[in-house]
Amino acid sequence: MKKIEIKTSATVYKDISALSTEDKILMNKAIEARNNAYAPYSKFSVGAALLLENNKIVLGNNQENAAYPSGMCAERVAIWKASSEYPNFKILKLAISASSSVTKVNKPVGPCGACRQSLYEYEFKQNQPFKILFMGEVGEIVKTESLKALLPFSFDSSYL
Ligand code: THU
Repeated sequence: MKKIEIKTSATVYKDISALSTEDKILMNKAIEARNNAYAPYSKFSVGAALLLENNKIVLGNNQENAAYPSGMCAERVAIWKASSEYPNFKILKLAISASSSVTKVNKPVGPCGACRQSLYEYEFKQNQPFKILFMGEVGEIVKTESLKALLPFSFDSSYL
């Protein structure tokens, strides 16, 4: 028997004003996308903005459905949009912002487990980490250097 320790790290910024200009622009795009979310059931809106190496910014937001499980998270809408429109360009960064019309989201909202797996597919595919920044509506922003940092013991095509 052996024990292993998996370490991860993140940088925490006090609010959006503490970000670099590039990160601030991307986060503002995520906020813009968030404001177009279709979330009539949960009232919880999420926006995602991906920066690609060709300098394109691809947006996504959550799309809910009266048949609840048929809805989709913002991150997967954005990553699949990016992969379908620009399959050959690497992803450099992802910014995520979440808000709710019933409560003030004042802590960082990380991508859900299913989104982490979906996002990791593309980090593995491009063989280059991409940065992830996430926040609520206000307050702190968490930044990680890779998707892998959010998903230890991740599953990828090397197992198949
Ligand atoms: N949601 C996202 O868009 N991304 C996440 O990572 C977490 C949850 C959406 C799904 C659903 O429309 C709403 O937030 C509440 O779960």
